[in-house]
This record gives sequence, structure tokens and C-alpha cells, in this order.
Amino acid sequence: MSDRILITGGAGFVGSHLAVRLVQEGYRVRVLDNLTEQVHGQAGWPGYLPDSVERIQGDIRNFNQVKEALHGVDAVFHFAAAVGVGQSMYQIDHYTDVNNRGTAVLLEVLIKQPVKKLVVASSMSVYGEGCYLDGEGNMYSPAERSSEMLRARQWELHHEQQELHPVPTPESKTPSPSSVYALSKYDQERLSLMIGAAYNIPTTALRFFNIYGPYQSLSNPYTGVLAIFSSRFLNGKAPVIFEDGRQRRDFVSVHDISQACLLTLESNKADGEVFNIGSGENYSINEIAAKVAEALACENLSPLVTGECRVGDIRHCFADIEKAKTLLDYRPRVSLEDGMSELAQWLQDQPADDRVEIMRSELSSRGLSL
Ligand code: UD1
Repeated sequence: MSDRILITGGAGFVGSHLAVRLVQEGYRVRVLDNLTEQVHGQAGWPGYLPDSVERIQGDIRNFNQVKEALHGVDAVFHFAAAVGVGQSMYQIDHYTDVNNRGTAVLLEVLIKQPVKKLVVASSMSVYGEGCYLDGEGNMYSPAERSSEMLRARQWELHHEQQELHPVPTPESKTPSPSSVYALSKYDQERLSLMIGAAYNIPTTALRFFNIYGPYQSLSNPYTGVLAIFSSRFLNGKAPVIFEDGRQRRDFVSVHDISQACLLTLESNKADGEVFNIGSGENYSINEIAAKVAEALACENLSPLVTGECRVGDIRHCFADIEKAKTLLDYRPRVSLEDGMSELAQWLQDQPADDRVEIMRSELSSRGLSL
């Protein structure tokens, strides 16, 4: 009999892709999800989950529901979380409750019902600012930008009056979470690795970079920038670019995320480890806006560079994926061009509910955008 895998948050963007992939690989898959409205609207279970996937609607903070979900399970992917950096800065109680306490509940149940493998979804956000080289070519990890710097529209980071040059960030960088969301992700990974080690549950934390792909929530105003720009274009509106658009990120296809998850599940070199999972490439937000415009044939809508910024946003962070390549044999396979054309194709049939203005006004009314 093949292994049974539980995916918490398995109706979400990343979890549902993994469910499809695991079924293709012959695993039996169960998902636990609360079908939260901000992500799923009134739609309920996503139609693209294979019929064979067992579905439990429940909350990661509910002991009995988690117990039921873990019954007869061999391995767990823990993806259930509230996701949204900006929103986490005012829904502090909610984010801490779902992400930190939810993980605590899962771990307490796992102590009684252990599994062969636990994989927890962490995030590049735990790093805060990425790694940089200083004027002499030495590695330097700067502190977060101050609000004075942001108010003065001084976007780039400096050390001893010299501008720093961003380089790929390895797992060895000391974490410096700059939002409640980031702190909760760091808490999730530490808690899981700690309890995993104490109770001999092989555990791995994957630090995902900026994930994109089909089924990404378009209605969630706190979703990733690629989905946000796409819904703007599909609504005939120009995307809004924060800062000067030269900030850089690593955009990784959701299919490569599934690949990394599968490799982690099947490898014993991953136990007790933390891995960056990205594409290994980096692009500026201006470049991304141009690529989305091209993919959706919306080049006539020039992006609006507002010069505003979100409190807690980092300037540059992109992945050093050498560790995942070496230990997991992870190889990103989807180029940004191919990934974007897949996204564009899926988007053609999507009702794009553009809620960017809601996010902007929510953040600005709370003083969380400058
Ligand atoms: C954050 C988290 C990441 C999480 C992701 C999606 C950090 C450091 N990282 O990434 O873990 O997976 O959110 O929830 O906290 N931007 C615009 N216009 C927009 C929206 C965004 O210019 O309409 C800019 C942002 O200012 C930022 C960049 O695009 O510079 C990327 O933003 P976003 O997609 O929200 O992701 P991150 O903040 O990088």
C-alpha cells in the first residue's frame, strides 16, 4: 500500500499543486483545510483537486480535527497558515494564533501520532534583508531600513557611505524577520525542527521564495506581486509599483516547489535541515511588470511608479539554492518565460477581482504605507 500523505492547507495555492503531484506519483493524499474566505471566496473546495484526494474541512488549531486528519498518515506537509505580510502587521492576534499556535497544536498531536516525515513551509521572509557585498567585496548583512530612510525615499542600503550590492542569500544568513508573518514563519520552522529532533520525527523546513503559477489567489489583496499585477492588467488597469521598482526578488514556479517537496519527502539527507527553494534567478519588480504586460498583451498600460512603500518590505532578497541542489538534487525546471505563459493562459478564463485599492487603503489608514 502506498504511503498516505496529509497536506495541511491542502486546498491553497501551493498545497493543491502538491496534492495533484503526489497523486500522480502514486501517493494517497488527504488534505485538511479551513477553506478561508479571503483565499477561496464562496467557492469551497477547488475543482482541480483530484477526486481521490480525501478532504477534511477543519482548523489547524482544533485538536480533534487535527487528530482525525492525522489518523493513518505516514508523512505531513504543513502548509496551513495565514499568508499576507501587510495584513499580519495589524491582525497580529490572528496571524500568531493560526500560524504559531496552529503549528503547536499539530506538533502536540504528532507526538502522540508520529509520522515518518514532517515538512514545514517556511519563507524567505525570515531573512529580512538579503545578503549584500560592501564596497570591499565583503559579505554584509544590513539592518532593516529605518522609516526615516523610507520617508526620504532612500531605497538602497548603504554601509559606510557606500551603496551595498545584493547577492544571493544562503541559509546561513542570520534570520531577521521584519513582519509578524515572517516571525510566525520563523517560529513555525524552529518549533517543528525542535520537536522533530526531540521526538525523532524527521523534519525539514523549506524556505520558499516568491511563488507564482496557476490557481494563485487573485482576489486576496495580500497575494504575491505577480498575481496582483495580472489582475490589474485583466481589469484594464496599470499595475502600481512601490518604491522605484528596482527591488529584486526570486520568482519560483509552483511546479518547482512541488518538485522540491517531493524530493524532500523521498530523501533522508533532508532530515533536520533548512533549505532555500527558489529559481536561483532574480528580477526587478519593473522587469516583472514588463514581463506580465507582455504575457497578457497589455503593453499599452504603463505601470504607475508611485514612490510609496509598505512598512516591513525588504529591498532585495533572492535565493542561493546550492544547498538544495547538492543535498536534494533539486533543479528548477520552469523558466520565468514558460511559467508566465502558463500563468497567462490560465488567467484568460479567470474572473479577476482587483482588490489592490483595498490593500493600499487598509495599509495607509494604519500608517503601514509611506
Ligand atoms: C512577501 C514575503 C514572502 C511571501 C510573499 C507573498 C517578505 C520579505 N516576504 O514577499 O515570504 O511569500 O510576501 O505573501 O515579507 N509590489 C509592488 N506592487 C504591488 C505589490 C507588491 O510594487 O502591487 C512590490 C513590493 O513592494 C515588493 C515586491 O513587489 O517590493 C514583492 O512583493 P510581494 O509579492 O508582496 O512579495 P514579498 O514582499 O517579496
